[in-house]
Amino acid sequence: MSDASDEGDMEERTIRVVAKTFDYSKARFMEKEYRVEAKRLTTVLDSLIQIKENIDHKLSFRYSCRMGICGSCAMVINGKPSLACETNLLSVAAEHDTIEVAPMQGHPLLKDLVTDFDDFFQNHKSIKPWLIYKNEKDRYDNRTETKQSDKERDEYLPFSECIKCGLCFDACPVANTNKEFLGPQALAQAYRYYADSRDDGKEDRLKEIDTLRGVWGCEFSGSCSKVCPKFVDPALAIQILKGEIAKKTLQGKM
Ligand code: FES
Repeated sequence: MSDASDEGDMEERTIRVVAKTFDYSKARFMEKEYRVEAKRLTTVLDSLIQIKENIDHKLSFRYSCRMGICGSCAMVINGKPSLACETNLLSVAAEHDTIEVAPMQGHPLLKDLVTDFDDFFQNHKSIKPWLIYKNEKDRYDNRTETKQSDKERDEYLPFSECIKCGLCFDACPVANTNKEFLGPQALAQAYRYYADSRDDGKEDRLKEIDTLRGVWGCEFSGSCSKVCPKFVDPALAIQILKGEIAKKTLQGKM
């Protein structure tokens, strides 16, 4: 005997998937249309895999984990930067039974829905996304332990959930128009390490981002935090860093 949710699972609807892809020969975007079958739990990524396996083997998109962990299936779905594997197809198809997928625009386009993350990861690496120790050699030679309380851990934990999907960068109006700007992902990670009680590089970290390329480039639109699938809140992290820089400057420490 099946219950109501089982019956919902069995119900199929045909959804029109419109993929916006760039045609290099004509130097403009074009739309490719596909029709896929969707059940209650079908995700946008499932539908793209369905298209690739059965309709258009050449359609390119990136994915790995299929469960919102690796961050590689980021794209623009109905105008919003989203993870394809975390987006339910029927809920975004709405009453017109149509969705539009497009590549992210804050990253250089490689092919179809695949974008290049080199610059993004360069920005990430530039904030030194690791713990800086004053006596690194001593620490590793003697395997010294640094204790941390729950309260100290909670200061940075929400900001350590970043999966580097690039959605916040894509949604940021500054990052989209100013290639120099480090962007919300890198700056949120700068805060993640700044807020960690084990880190000895705090003032150097603040000096590095006390620039227009860093926190002062942020115009606080808040769009980064709205699209983060892990609720990291880069906008908050950046405002805290601005406050810390202002405080240290007034104290004459910077
Ligand atoms: Fe890994 Fe979507 S496939 S986050």
